[in-house]
Amino acid sequence: MCGIIGVTGDTDALPLILGALHRLEYRGYDSAGVALVVDGEIWRERVADGKHSVAALAARTTAEPPPPGHAAGIGHTRWATHGHPTAENAHPHLDCTGRLAIIHNGIIENHAALRAELVAAGHVMTSATDTEVVAHLIEGHMAAGLSLAEATRAALGAVRGAFSIAVAHADEPETIVAARRSTPLVLGLRDGVALLASDIPALLGHADQLFSLGDDELAVLTPGHITVTTLAGLPVVPEPLQITWDLEAAQKDGYEDFMSKEMHEQPRAVANTLLDRRGADGRLALDEMRLTPDELRRIDKVFIVACGSSYHSAVVAKYAIEHWVKLPTEVDIASEFRYRDPVLTERTLCVGVSQSGETLDTSMAMKEASRLGAKVLVVSNVVDSSMARAADGVIYTRAGLEVGVASTKCHLAQIVALEILGLTLAQIHGTLTPGEIAGILDEMDRLPELVEQALQRSVEVDDVAGKLTKARDFFFLGRHVGYPMALEGALKLKELAYLRAEGYPAGELKHGPIALIEKGTVVVGIATRNRLWEKMLSNIAEVHSRGATVVLVADDGDEEAAAVADHVLWVPPCPPLLSPVVGVVPLQQLAYRLARLHGHDVDRPRNLAKTVTVE
Ligand code: G6P
Repeated sequence: MCGIIGVTGDTDALPLILGALHRLEYRGYDSAGVALVVDGEIWRERVADGKHSVAALAARTTAEPPPPGHAAGIGHTRWATHGHPTAENAHPHLDCTGRLAIIHNGIIENHAALRAELVAAGHVMTSATDTEVVAHLIEGHMAAGLSLAEATRAALGAVRGAFSIAVAHADEPETIVAARRSTPLVLGLRDGVALLASDIPALLGHADQLFSLGDDELAVLTPGHITVTTLAGLPVVPEPLQITWDLEAAQKDGYEDFMSKEMHEQPRAVANTLLDRRGADGRLALDEMRLTPDELRRIDKVFIVACGSSYHSAVVAKYAIEHWVKLPTEVDIASEFRYRDPVLTERTLCVGVSQSGETLDTSMAMKEASRLGAKVLVVSNVVDSSMARAADGVIYTRAGLEVGVASTKCHLAQIVALEILGLTLAQIHGTLTPGEIAGILDEMDRLPELVEQALQRSVEVDDVAGKLTKARDFFFLGRHVGYPMALEGALKLKELAYLRAEGYPAGELKHGPIALIEKGTVVVGIATRNRLWEKMLSNIAEVHSRGATVVLVADDGDEEAAAVADHVLWVPPCPPLLSPVVGVVPLQQLAYRLARLHGHDVDRPRNLAKTVTVE
């Protein structure tokens, strides 16, 4: 997830762009850049300065300002996906002539194949990004005589994936061409000025009218004018947007808080994490993983180590890896792993899971694993995080910046990334056939849609939450992958609603915790269908008969499960090992709604930090 801004017309573009980038920092900030068309040339400045990239860009452009009299300008604040967060990989990117500049938010899925073709045709690439290939594709079409708009349209015909792009060219100094597929882009107009941005906050106060650009549409911006067509070339009347939000509300995209915004971004986080994982031959090929197939073939044991919600993703992965790869897989809490003399060899794969890639416990655990000779792989959401840099290999979740302290979209993306790792190991160890792997990947491709369906049931979840406002004690029970889902549901309720909640394996209940069940205790059970479903219902019947109020997460239409529940949180069914990606959604929503009903700030829960860099 990145932030983009473009402006052309009668205005001082540079300060407007810098101000807009500052407002878009909630979309990412690991590097930032700006390009202006000045005196028939592209003037460009880029910096990579971690959290302060936009401020650093402002300082740089103040110290070394562009010549006066610029026309169109574009700017970008980046959250890296392809390519390290360096100045070379920061946007805008140029073509070989240096006369075309492009900014992009999204992922170009077939970038590797396009890059190979372009390099073979003599183009010189100066970054490791997926974006740069689009600049060179457009360059090729312009060299053949097309206008910027027509060349962009032609170039996008060859592109697969998700994109919002904006392109400026020194030959058409007052024009910006923008297009989008699957990622957001808004347009703005006022007298003599036309603008575009990835989100509304960037344009507030700068435009009199706002319009949305639809999927697979292309806009040509000139001072005071915008023309929109489909990517196929048919004319479109852009849809006006009525905005009554202030800046803060706009940064949350109209949602009341970042947590609900980020929950709604989950389908895209899952889709992006799945993108681009299959090579041309249909086999899994993890781009950024630096470990070779030979190294992975020698692995005889897997350890997965993490904290918080990342630990719960790890527990899901244990079930998947043991089932698919038949490799012994242990999971551990990072702060325990580090001090308990784990038995590791050079044939152990130690996987650290961390949204931030900076959590001290996990980071130190990975250092310990390295010291003991294990191969270290990190699953991180932040490209080039310190854990990602120190590891032997890395898989990035591509969930975009997560602002809410309690992890939501990154948790789902981690499960997906770890399961992709599991399937890759199964491919290398030969424990699943290519057909079986392809079948599971096809099921995974349905996950974004199923997560979307689960999200759409929030009204029913709210209704259940409304009936539980007096409850103070919660048990979350599950078996098999329902167990880590129970852990995550309980953690969410603790950290957001400040309610006592325990996540427990349902079969273990009879060995102690059942003594705590009494009238008024709420039991949330994960009862989606798997081979332990019947046993799970028996466990639920036990607590029901002891007076507990039972809330069940169950597959749509499962009346047998509904019969033993007081309330049901329905989810669309999906294969058991993938089910946590969908089934955690109502648990997040339940915790969210109870927290709100109890009057708590869900984005900044008390006593908690997003990234914990102390022991
Ligand atoms: C904190 C956050 C959690 C997160 C955990 C691990 O406790 O509040 O949401 O799951 O850290 O963070 P990491 O960045 O390592 O995934």
